Amino acid sequence: MQKLSATNLNFENNTIDYAFYDPPYGANINYSELNIVWEAWLNEFTMVKDEIIENKYQGKNRNIYGQMMLAALREVYRVLKPGRWLTMIYSYSDPSMYRIIQNIAHEAGFADEGGLLHINSASKTFAQETSDKSQQRFLVINFKKPKGGRKKVVEKSEDIEYDVIQVTHEFLKKYPGRTRDQIYDEVIKRLFSSVQIEKFDLDEILKNFFRKVGNEWFAPGTLIERRKGDQKQGALWEEPIPEHPEKEVILRLQDFLREYRIVPYSELREFYLRKLKIAIDRDFDDLVSENFIIDKGKVRLPTVEEQLRMQDITVHYTKRILAQFLDGRLNRAPTGPEICEWIHFCYQHELYREGLQLFGVLDESSIPSDAYKRAKKIAEVCRIKKK
Ligand SMILES: C[S@@+](CC[C@H](N)C(=O)[O-])C[C@H]1O[C@@H](n2cnc3c(N)ncnc32)[C@H](O)[C@@H]1O
Repeated sequence: MQKLSATNLNFENNTIDYAFYDPPYGANINYSELNIVWEAWLNEFTMVKDEIIENKYQGKNRNIYGQMMLAALREVYRVLKPGRWLTMIYSYSDPSMYRIIQNIAHEAGFADEGGLLHINSASKTFAQETSDKSQQRFLVINFKKPKGGRKKVVEKSEDIEYDVIQVTHEFLKKYPGRTRDQIYDEVIKRLFSSVQIEKFDLDEILKNFFRKVGNEWFAPGTLIERRKGDQKQGALWEEPIPEHPEKEVILRLQDFLREYRIVPYSELREFYLRKLKIAIDRDFDDLVSENFIIDKGKVRLPTVEEQLRMQDITVHYTKRILAQFLDGRLNRAPTGPEICEWIHFCYQHELYREGLQLFGVLDESSIPSDAYKRAKKIAEVCRIKKK
């Protein structure tokens, strides 16, 4: 065993078969300071100058931390045999670190091949399993020193928010009812190898595009399912308080609507108040409108087509972008052809007022004349339909 700094290894080039790194995570723990008592006891001291850390008392900011991490990864790259692996653990209490670590590893020459894994520090408590607050998690990344020495280029995402929405949607369709942390894990895992991770607001995305039931998230338009471990209906005379009240209410309302198909709203409310008697900490009307179809005072389950339409996340996303643009909140200028596509989209989705508004801002010189004529025709139809 040798006591060395990771930035300066005492090995020849291309000689090491495997490396396992558990580096410091930015400013997470001040190791050398905390270890001073034990180190004095052992008379072995951390080489503070070489310590990779973000620590203002040592004059090391995030930039210096990044540079030192890059030096360490370049060094391990140098000594590894081509085609061999570095496994690195990284904790993400601070999400902005991902972009840094992704950048550094690729800059040093490593390629990750998508084999990412998440682990948790210890066995999980019930709260960790179900809470929607962020927990400190650990990411295990396998980096390969490519044989040809070619650097991996990770492209900038065209629209990181949209990428996150897509990954979340696929994940929730496959695994309905996941917590925020589990979704976050999946997003990082999927994006890490494919695009440059930029800042995104997962909570905002979830709020705008997905459905929350208790602490669990679902894709829009999917019926809620009872999972193993969810509470079943209890004894008739003394029902226990369900562990997930909101989910239980939705499940029972779904069952009720499956049996009676179309029921007046008042009857559904009556059923909830008199038969279910489960207190939920949200508005009953909101819960019904989020989960069922209300048509002329009657409530029913969404049809398969309606479910599919609700699940079409691209439609929700385009509607949102459109609304942002028309409110002057979009932070980029759409091209002429894009506005034309939006006009067509508005027509298809009966957003006649918006279609007309969009035509109003379409610059004739930004698109070919036949495309302009087509947009004009659609806008005319929107004008008629709007009335
Ligand atoms: C996340 S901890 C690793 C903990 C270890 N896996 C364990 O279970 O005890 C990061 C470690 O990297 C060490 N470290 C910091 N700079 C270093 C450097 N330049 N070379 C080698 N190790 C360094 C820190 O002292 C700290 O012990």
